[in-house]
Amino acid sequence: MKKSNILNIILGLAVLALAWRVAVKEDKNTTGAGFHAATTTAPAATDTASDSNPALQNIMTRHSVRQFTDKKLTDDQLTTLVKAGMAAPTAMDKRPWSFQTVTDPELLSMLSEAAPGTKHVAGAAAAIIVCGDSNDFIEGEGRDFWIQDCSAASENILLAAHAMGLGAVWCGIYPQQERVSKVRGDFELEENLIPLCVIAVGYPAQKGSPKDKWNPDKMRKLE
Ligand SMILES: Cc1cc2nc3c(=O)[nH]c(=O)nc-3n(C[C@H](O)[C@H](O)[C@H](O)COP(=O)(O)O)c2cc1C
Repeated sequence: MKKSNILNIILGLAVLALAWRVAVKEDKNTTGAGFHAATTTAPAATDTASDSNPALQNIMTRHSVRQFTDKKLTDDQLTTLVKAGMAAPTAMDKRPWSFQTVTDPELLSMLSEAAPGTKHVAGAAAAIIVCGDSNDFIEGEGRDFWIQDCSAASENILLAAHAMGLGAVWCGIYPQQERVSKVRGDFELEENLIPLCVIAVGYPAQKGSPKDKWNPDKMRKLE
């Protein structure tokens, strides 16, 4: 083969390779492929089955844990739990909350006596008192959205705990006024703080299992 023919073939291959690279780059720009898109676009429909999707699996297997080992939590773990709480959606993005963390065994013991349902707090490594902060409530008719906002935060904390290999239980305080006054008084909470619930958290003492609550009768397709 002539030298000029070989050169032509090499040149042709180089042009093809360049064209292919440009095409791939354009495709990435238009379809949003790459790291960012992979983490923000919805998963394919086939990925949403709860047995193959880790986020759904975490939701489906969460269950209340009321017995804990003696193992303590680190400050980082507690911060992660509260961060998960603060990632919740809130009406008008008001974030009308305050999270009071408790790890001192004496304080946990005192908190366990706030209500019949909080007795598990005594054996927990920590507790988070999820409070509404009336300084940040919506004015007027929307005021009570704080309950939904703080509930969304509380569920986020339960799910985060489960995802971290911890166990947790939601202990109801608000709207039982006696419990609200007890927690407020015992912990000298500011007047603007309304304790919605106490979340007891720690390492589970035994393996629990989730309840199967799926009830197709409770789902109705409006047509
Ligand atoms: C508003 C609310 C209040 C609750 N109060 C208590 C409580 O005081 N003590 C308790 O042990 N569990 C309490 N729970 C936990 C429920 O008993 C538990 O979520 C329910 O039995 C379902 O079980 P699961 O969490 O394992 O799915 C409360 C849950 C909610 C949402």
